[in-house]
Amino acid sequence: MPENTPWVSAPNPVLYSPANIQRYRSLVVDKSHRYAWRLDNDQLQDLYLKNVSDRHLEIGPADLHFLHHTPAPAMAHGWHVHVLDINQAPLEEAKTKLAGRAQVDTHEHDILVAPWPLADQSVDSLACGNVLHCLPGARFRAKAAVFDEMARVLTEDGVAWGYTLLGAHDPAISPNPLARLLMRSYNKAENTFHNTGDRYADLERELHLRFAQVELSVMGCAAVWVVRGPVR
Ligand SMILES: C[S@@+](CC[C@H](N)C(=O)[O-])C[C@H]1O[C@@H](n2cnc3c(N)ncnc32)[C@H](O)[C@@H]1O
Repeated sequence: MPENTPWVSAPNPVLYSPANIQRYRSLVVDKSHRYAWRLDNDQLQDLYLKNVSDRHLEIGPADLHFLHHTPAPAMAHGWHVHVLDINQAPLEEAKTKLAGRAQVDTHEHDILVAPWPLADQSVDSLACGNVLHCLPGARFRAKAAVFDEMARVLTEDGVAWGYTLLGAHDPAISPNPLARLLMRSYNKAENTFHNTGDRYADLERELHLRFAQVELSVMGCAAVWVVRGPVR
């Protein structure tokens, strides 16, 4: 599809149903990460342990796995967590898991649509794991609203991190046969993956355009980033 084709994102309540959210850990975090995408869950958890702040934004939580396994950085009345998702079930799951641990604001919103319902410079930390490869768009350039909004809502001293599966033909990764098979079928399935054109080099460029400090690396089939210093 040409790059200027309008891509429209839409909720997928069948894929992200309450029942599938309960299966997410076993199917995705435990099995797909290990056997297909080759992601190290301990390293992903470390990103949260090192960086979660008392004003945190979680984008696209699914079952909220990593945030759920992160100690609260403050007492329940002092830990403010915003959760942003286009699907209802992940927002409900986040409310349940964070009940009694944090003050939670959920926002049912498509992250490709700016502005997000958060004020400028309103969060000190922000996580966006395994979400960009779900977003329609021929390349990372078409997903740029997400990078713009991350930079807008993050404070000067804040930190943002995330990871996303790169397209199977990106020279930066070497997917195994299972990963190639899954990428092909998830990109064919309606409203599931859209990462065929996602390239490490393009992601690097988009991040450098908006953040003064960019740490980007490859982990299995994913690019993992930690960024600071939003450029205004
Ligand atoms: C694959 S799950 C990622 C779960 C988790 N963050 C992780 O690290 O594994 C993708 C999440 O992004 C959400 N999502 C997908 N498209 C979205 C969009 N356009 N706007 C907001 N959220 C979206 C889904 O509802 C789901 O919660």
